[in-house]
Amino acid sequence: MCGIVGFVGRKPCAPVLLEGLSRLEYRGYDSAGIAVIENNNIVVKKTKGELKTLINLLDKGSNFKSEIGIGHTRWATHGKPSNENAHPHKSMNGKFVVVHNGIIENYASLKENLINEGYVFSSETDTEVVAALLEKLYNGNFFETVSKVLDVIEGSYALGIICADFPDEFYAVRKASPLIVGLSDEGNMIASDIPAILPLTNKIYYLNDNEIIKMTADEVEIFDVNGNKLQREVTEIKWDVSAAEKGGYKHFMIKEIMEQPKALKDTIEPRIKDGKINFEDIDFSDEFLKNIDCIHIVACGSAYHVGVVGKYIIEDLARKPVYVEIASEFRYSNPLVTDKSLVIVISQSGETADTLEALKIAKSKGAKILSIVNVVGSSIANISDNVLYTWAGPEISVATTKAYSTQLSLIYLVALYISEKIGTIDSDFVAEKIKEIEKIPGYIEEILKLAPEIEQMAKRYAYLEHAYFIGRNFDYAIALEASLKLKEISYIHSEAYAAGELKHGTISLIEEGTFVVGLACNKDLFKKTMSNVEEVKARGAEVMLITSENMDVSESMVDTVIRIPDCDKLITPSLEVVPMQLLGYYIALARNCNIDKPKNLAKSVTVE
Ligand code: G6P
Repeated sequence: MCGIVGFVGRKPCAPVLLEGLSRLEYRGYDSAGIAVIENNNIVVKKTKGELKTLINLLDKGSNFKSEIGIGHTRWATHGKPSNENAHPHKSMNGKFVVVHNGIIENYASLKENLINEGYVFSSETDTEVVAALLEKLYNGNFFETVSKVLDVIEGSYALGIICADFPDEFYAVRKASPLIVGLSDEGNMIASDIPAILPLTNKIYYLNDNEIIKMTADEVEIFDVNGNKLQREVTEIKWDVSAAEKGGYKHFMIKEIMEQPKALKDTIEPRIKDGKINFEDIDFSDEFLKNIDCIHIVACGSAYHVGVVGKYIIEDLARKPVYVEIASEFRYSNPLVTDKSLVIVISQSGETADTLEALKIAKSKGAKILSIVNVVGSSIANISDNVLYTWAGPEISVATTKAYSTQLSLIYLVALYISEKIGTIDSDFVAEKIKEIEKIPGYIEEILKLAPEIEQMAKRYAYLEHAYFIGRNFDYAIALEASLKLKEISYIHSEAYAAGELKHGTISLIEEGTFVVGLACNKDLFKKTMSNVEEVKARGAEVMLITSENMDVSESMVDTVIRIPDCDKLITPSLEVVPMQLLGYYIALARNCNIDKPKNLAKSVTVE
């Protein structure tokens, strides 16, 4: 989704803006632009296509002296990707210029009124309406004008605004779209995400919805919509710039796959103390947990797939019904949620629009919200009753890997925690499982050594047109994730099926050479899944099998086998997913795909 940056300071802003935008490229975009104030005039440079086109066009920003400016990478929502629709958008009189992430939901009626009043629009975007309103409502006072515009617009927005009459002042606002402020002696900066700010500073302000930010080179002030000044604590970001760089790897995705042992250690360790679960971050009463009527897990994309694993595990251990739901469906389904329900929301970014809205609906029905989130201070984290952070560090590749794995590890701990409180398992059982969870990083280190072997296998599958992933129970949950990983980065059509369901339709697609990946790591169901593997093999499928070290596999039944270490059933999904991430990555690599930024996809999906 769109990325925003803005800077006001004591050095030329253009290189800062372009560098910031390059660190937001991971969000997915189709055009880019910047605007600066030079000699009291607003200058806009923008272009369709890759950011490097803009950077070359501007000679890395070296031609501008201006110390105040805004920048944007656009992911089209209103109007196709084009030079005209690219941000920043100037008001007709050229006084104001705006960048925006989000959607102005009432833009159509506002635009119609403005056209009737004689305003001429030069783009198809909802954003240009904001620029037009700033011009229309301008009374010479920048702050008041911004406030008046906020009274009129509806929807979600992070906005960066500059005005030619105030070449030292920068305004920004945030409502249901991410935005943070960076503070440094050289100047102050806004951005959609931390990586954009890190080259300048690691000192940031997290912002809340409906806050207005006024920045100069020396000062950042935060106001509520009524103009009351708010206090904010400075947060120091612990990771350095290199955490959001490739560090010698060809792609962020492979770097992030390789970072999983560390990310898991960082996530698991603080939650375990003296062999017990240490959830300082959770304060649900024992009474609430004992009397939970049901648990809903709500998420999108890969985070939803973590929820599918969670359903199998929590139902098994806690003996409570668990409904795992796609957030965009949940929000429009009049969900059966009560004040006795626990809603677990999972999100890497903490900003996914559908997940955020689903959370709000569940909350309004009285449910308690536990979120599992990677980005500190994100919208989902801010409005949840309790938050468990995944300490995965910045995840840049659009296809998630380390965030997924850390979410999974927290789901195990949540399942154990709730089940022990309910009384379906005892502390000895928990202690035994904790020991297994602590082994996950080490096991993954071992599996990562398979990378060269999987790379060779991937070459054999690089020219496929279709792939099918089958498994039962949590093997099925991993099949969903494995299939998504492959299709999103390699553009190979791929489907995941519950292995027993294949014969109810999809098996008709299996023919000589069709690629089928059988996931059979759940020992309880190994034989059942292998029967389904035999069914596809009998129809000519090319079969890859993922199973554990000790399982007995007849060579005639499969074409290739990947084995993961033999481990406790609870943690098996964490091991099983890693070769699938590697497979997806290496197939996409062999196909020469744009792995970190697959076409049409965005990392942080802030529109519904
Ligand atoms: C996008 C990303 C996926 C992610 C999903 C949910 O589609 O490409 O990798 O799983 O959004 O994002 P979230 O930030 O809520 O986990």
